[in-house]
Amino acid sequence: MFVAAITTAINAWLMQPVLDSIFFNKELTMLYIVPTFVVINSIVKGGAHFYQLSTMKKLGQKIVNDLQIRLYSHLIYADTKLLMEYPSGNLISRMTNDINAMRKSVSDLLTGAVQELCTLIGLVFLMFYQSKSLALIAVFIIPVAFYPMLKLGHKMRRVARKIQEGLSSFTVRLDETFQHISLVKSYCREEYEISRAKKVTDNVLSLYKKSAYIESAPSPMMEVLSSVAIAFIIWYGGSEVIDSKMSPGEFFSFITALIVTYKPLKSVTQLNTSLQEALSAAKRMFSLLDEKPTIFDDPRTPHSALKNFNIEFHDIHFSYKTGLKILDGFNLRIQEGTTVALVGSSGVGKTTVLQLLQRLYDPESGYITIGGQNITKMRLNDLRNEIALVSQEIALFDETIMDNIRYGKLEATQEEIVEAAVAAAAHDFIINLPEGYNTLIGQRGVKLSGGQRQRLAIARAMLKNSPVLLLDEATSALDSIAEKQVQEALDRLKKGRTTIVIAHRLSSIEGADMICVIANGRVAEYGSHQELISLNREYCKFYNQYKNITGMN
Ligand SMILES: Nc1ncnc2c1ncn2[C@@H]1O[C@H](COP(=O)(O)OP(=O)(O)OP(=O)(O)O)[C@@H](O)[C@H]1O
Ligand SMILES: [Mg+2]
Repeated sequence: MFVAAITTAINAWLMQPVLDSIFFNKELTMLYIVPTFVVINSIVKGGAHFYQLSTMKKLGQKIVNDLQIRLYSHLIYADTKLLMEYPSGNLISRMTNDINAMRKSVSDLLTGAVQELCTLIGLVFLMFYQSKSLALIAVFIIPVAFYPMLKLGHKMRRVARKIQEGLSSFTVRLDETFQHISLVKSYCREEYEISRAKKVTDNVLSLYKKSAYIESAPSPMMEVLSSVAIAFIIWYGGSEVIDSKMSPGEFFSFITALIVTYKPLKSVTQLNTSLQEALSAAKRMFSLLDEKPTIFDDPRTPHSALKNFNIEFHDIHFSYKTGLKILDGFNLRIQEGTTVALVGSSGVGKTTVLQLLQRLYDPESGYITIGGQNITKMRLNDLRNEIALVSQEIALFDETIMDNIRYGKLEATQEEIVEAAVAAAAHDFIINLPEGYNTLIGQRGVKLSGGQRQRLAIARAMLKNSPVLLLDEATSALDSIAEKQVQEALDRLKKGRTTIVIAHRLSSIEGADMICVIANGRVAEYGSHQELISLNREYCKFYNQYKNITGMN
């Protein structure tokens, strides 16, 4: 970097012997020495430049790569509550568009800024060496030039932020459209989606146009300012040479230095706009990195060996948004090894209870214990390893069936995986697929039917083999034959485990040891099926309605 800077200054300085020794004193030896020196100087300069460029570019990419994975790791551990605030497209955009804005700028800055600044300093030194008074005039232009640059820089940062937001909206549109492509098609909303996407891209385009003005301004501005300085110096320096206060060589060397200065100066001002873009992206990124999770696996917490798996909810109050209570004094005790069913109308908070137990959210007040241990005092991974969940919305990856089941236990053998699939009544449909366990199932398992997806999710939970089992509408998508098969498998699985089931099909919870009816954020009724029927209240009403609808007797 310094070599490159010094060689540039040397090139300018060489103008002095060219003029003074060759043109005026007609020294023949210098006629050979100076050109040879020019070539050697350029080779050194080229070598140094190459080494510096490649090293700095590599360094720049490494810095940005590290940031990217840091952000990813940070987000994956962030609070569920925070993550729910952002559409996934927004987060994707931060990890891609924003990072790429930084990738370009960091590498530009590292390769350009430092070198150009060094070169600038080298040239300024040379100018002072040649003529102090002229140099003072030339240096005066720098602050004059920098003021408008700073102004433009600020403007650029604002526009860059808006562009990043615009790109993020576009990613959100892309993400949503292609996630819900069947819906888009069945509602014939292609044109509507195109117009929505166009609105976003038009906005981004108008911002890019604005940024084109801002980005293009510094260079011509610098050009004008530099020529004013050069004109002035030709007038002033020329009169010094005429008065023989300065040799023509010194004067030309000075002018060359000044002209060469223009390039790094221009680059530095251009880098400023690039820097503003990076700063704006970095700001968006660090605003996420600054969000510290409130629920995390604290390594200082000792591991706890649970004596039993009794689960207790103590006076839980919880709301997702302030002012809208979901749980309001919820109390529940679940005896180890038993099955408790949660019943209640849609949106009453059943899934929320399961989320609180896994500490995806923490209650506002009240506490939950497992084996007598407050779950907030447990290592997060210890808690979650004890729990296997089949969630209401089945989450599958665009991988093979084998890998999707293996997610429940990464070190599982092939036999264990097949065993889990058999238990979940999934094995038969899997082996009938052309590629069996190696079938790729598409994003979120789109290449499978709803019931098949559900059985994979059950197999995954079976493989995890945890003492606490949470089944949230686990069999809702199955036909009655498959449901019977899976139900039998689940009954086997439930043996000896503490289980919480949620099901709208009351037939699948009748056999639960206890049934808990939730209403108004708390437990309204609690008891066995028979007890609640004889109580003849909410549950009995649900049950009779269900019987009428399904024609059950
Ligand atoms: N992430 C969230 N942010 C804000 N509100 C939420 C969120 N998740 C759920 N809710 C609200 O909390 C309430 C309880 O939701 P929950 O999913 O626990 O209901 P549920 O009893 O499982 O219903 P269902 O039987 O339909 O599955 C609902 O009224 C819902 O609107
Ligand atoms: Mg639910």
